[in-house]
Amino acid sequence: MTPMEGIRACVFDAYGTVFDFASAAARCADIPADKRTALTTLWRDKQLQYTWLRTLQGDYADFWQVTSDALDFTLDSLGLASPALHRRLMELYETLQAFPEVAGTLRRLREAGFVTAILSNGSPAMLDAAVRGAGLDGLFDAVLSADAVKVFKTHPKVYAYGLEQLGLAANQVSFQSSNGWDAFGASAFGMRVVWCNRYGQRRECLPGAPDHEVRSLAELPALLAPPGR
Ligand code: 2OP
Repeated sequence: MTPMEGIRACVFDAYGTVFDFASAAARCADIPADKRTALTTLWRDKQLQYTWLRTLQGDYADFWQVTSDALDFTLDSLGLASPALHRRLMELYETLQAFPEVAGTLRRLREAGFVTAILSNGSPAMLDAAVRGAGLDGLFDAVLSADAVKVFKTHPKVYAYGLEQLGLAANQVSFQSSNGWDAFGASAFGMRVVWCNRYGQRRECLPGAPDHEVRSLAELPALLAPPGR
């Protein structure tokens, strides 16, 4: 395998890629064990649907609001509606656990000379809390939020905003996402893409084609030729 040449920055999606969104329900003792997976899946699905629908409708609300609305829908659907449970799960969502290989991978990339950044739908306050809570402070050169452009991924404005902030061309960025829709979206936009397919998703039948597919971010450094080599 020949490493990808010309990459200057490694840009990461946040939720599901760096941070484990299942760790909110997993740490919530008030949710019956047999409902945790259903809650996590429905909450995530609704959250994403609401980002796409709000973008389509031109009715932006930030990701904290969207996440809260999706949780309302989910708790109601599962017969678990309660203000205290809603509050607790939102608190836990603020400090999700990072996947175990993330910190080590970021250190290796930075030592090799890559710029590291997050480009996420998350609101700036959510992303700051998540980065701090997971002990990743100092490991990202930039934490970029779609909130700056008031639409969500996969709107091209979000990917363009990331490039503008980093001062790089699309083909100088390796974008990592565990979300097939995001990996294909960034690829269709022109970025180089490593799809971290943690969840064993099927390939999307959408424009774009990720350059690589891996199961863990630990595989990333070996795929990239260090900048300036
Ligand atoms: C993100 O972090 C929602 O995972 C998506 O942008």
